[in-house]
Amino acid sequence: MNAPRLGVAYYPEQWPRDRWETDAALMAAAGIAVVRIAEFAWSRLEPSEGAFELDWLDEAIGVLADNGHEVILGTPTAAPPAWLIEQHPEILPVRADGRVHRFGHRRHYCPNQPAMRDAAARIVTAMADRFGADDRVVAWQIDNELGGRCYCDTCRAAFQTWLADRYESPAVLNDVWGTAFWSQEYTAWTQVPLPDGDPPPPGSLFGRNAPNPGLALDFRRFTSDSHIGFLRRQVEILRAACDPRQRITHNLMGFRFSEIDYYALAAEIDLVSWDNYPVLDASGRKTNPALSADAMRGLKDAPVWVLEQQAGPLGWELVRSPRREELRTLTWQAIAHGAELVAYFRWRTARFGTEQHWHGILDANGLVGHRYEDLSALAAELAEVGPRLHGVRQRSAVAIVSDYESRFALQVQPTNPSLGYEESVHAHYAALRSFGLGVDVVAPDADLSGYRLVVAPALYVMDESRAAAFAAYVSGGGMLVLAPRTGVKDRCNAVPERPFPAWLDELAGVEVTSFMSVDPGEEVPIDTGTFHGWYEEIALRGATALASYADGPFRGGAAIAECATGDGATVYVAGVADDPTLRELYQSLAERIELPLLALPAGVEAVPLAKDGEELLVLLNHSDQAQHVDLGPGRWQAYLGEGGELPPFGVTLLGRETATSPAAALADADR
Ligand code: GAL
Ligand code: ZN
Repeated sequence: MNAPRLGVAYYPEQWPRDRWETDAALMAAAGIAVVRIAEFAWSRLEPSEGAFELDWLDEAIGVLADNGHEVILGTPTAAPPAWLIEQHPEILPVRADGRVHRFGHRRHYCPNQPAMRDAAARIVTAMADRFGADDRVVAWQIDNELGGRCYCDTCRAAFQTWLADRYESPAVLNDVWGTAFWSQEYTAWTQVPLPDGDPPPPGSLFGRNAPNPGLALDFRRFTSDSHIGFLRRQVEILRAACDPRQRITHNLMGFRFSEIDYYALAAEIDLVSWDNYPVLDASGRKTNPALSADAMRGLKDAPVWVLEQQAGPLGWELVRSPRREELRTLTWQAIAHGAELVAYFRWRTARFGTEQHWHGILDANGLVGHRYEDLSALAAELAEVGPRLHGVRQRSAVAIVSDYESRFALQVQPTNPSLGYEESVHAHYAALRSFGLGVDVVAPDADLSGYRLVVAPALYVMDESRAAAFAAYVSGGGMLVLAPRTGVKDRCNAVPERPFPAWLDELAGVEVTSFMSVDPGEEVPIDTGTFHGWYEEIALRGATALASYADGPFRGGAAIAECATGDGATVYVAGVADDPTLRELYQSLAERIELPLLALPAGVEAVPLAKDGEELLVLLNHSDQAQHVDLGPGRWQAYLGEGGELPPFGVTLLGRETATSPAAALADADR
């Protein structure tokens, strides 16, 4: 990656013209290098159809550039203006219950409406024609946080066309969806409905409108494709009109957002950006932003930009505050996980609108306060030590597989609250990270050959070719960990005619013969820890038990099993394991394959980095207590902070030559 830089989101249209210079100069004095503008400014850029007013934007770009800032231009399509909705009310998206999403917020458009697509193409073309060759503009952000499901008639027709493109005939569709169930067979594409909305909330056993699982999975794929198609049209316009030096990006929403296949979206753009709001997350777990950062970096296996990083207290109706020191800790966290740019949301707190409580670097009063001072100090620190990060890459011998299809399918049938997709991935991720292991988050079809350990939790949707790739990885010497509910559905969300984990049963050397689905709080002990909520009985068909049930209906039977294939092995964890259980498992597996482990106190995160001839380590103390990390043998040089001594919310950057470190030599040999 390149040495990290800082930026802000700025809304010149929301402030008087005579304030712009002050803002741009204050930003420059604080060490801001990049400013993102215009992503919601449609009504000012095109006040009525075809009447473009781009001069003010030109002027704003000029003020920023005069103060040394690079500009990222947003296309404003997330906020279609009132005149457009008045002319084309059909643009408003329709919710699952048929209610129309009114004007008065944002994202109030259906991505498949021709009127919206045309209007978006018009404004983007006008902006691209004007600024596509402009040196002051370094990148384009398309729209803002794409997402949302629309259930309008246009979407229904588009869904039917999407199905017709994918399946040869209604007869084929009937076959793969199994529509003989409840007389749902279709004789024409026009009969296919949209599924109902979300499944029932956890706790209720029946959703009266629970759709055909194949239909519901395909509708999620279709929705994802609809947003990507909407984005693609803008990408095409920008590519045609702009200097290729201007990079095209979109701000994604991290790991937790689950309506769009982000791998597919990322393939359309030049670089991945994402929005990071750690304090929005009620769990407060700092492993969540870390997981998001790794997942976003993994989409293109490349450095990313954080286009919105939490700047202060936030909320719409209710407000949550970070600790003051966290501006720095969380920025360093994003950087350590691969962000070359961290741009705060937002420069100045809004005086008007929904986000008056979303605190920027400046307060609404426009005065310089403590967040401005903290930002300035951080920018100075990064200017000094940031160049050390030039050329580094995250050093991961471990990969976690993240699969949107499995995720979509589990949304349709959550089965048990303890099987939640995000939670499952997070649980394995957090256990691995607790030892300071670097973790890459990869697609199910990624090249796994460079990894020593691959963890695939919740690979619910499987097929033969996917399974073959995992088998090749294991026979090539890899270690694969699978978790419960693997291989339960095929790609059409039908149940395969094979023992679970379907297509992976031979590789794992097990067969699931029964299961218990109980209250998520209900536990069952195993030799090495605890399962809860969901646990399976497995018959050993070549595997040996690593742990057995110590009680409950499957008492004495295998709970974690391992099966060797070639030089590699597959481990099947037959229940939803708690954190100590997973840690125990990963500690023993990592020791066996000689991955270097750190003993980290609670609240401390370690991020291993590598560059030519040097190994680096970032330590982040997310707690409000001083912490000590035992760095073991090998001499580290501290570039920032005091080695293993971390003050509350402290950050340390350490480095050492690779040649002197066996651990680093080992990691180098890996990748
Ligand atoms: C993001 C969004 C921003 C702003 C921020 C705070 O999701 O992209 O425009 O709304 O959240 O709510
Ligand atoms: Zn629609």
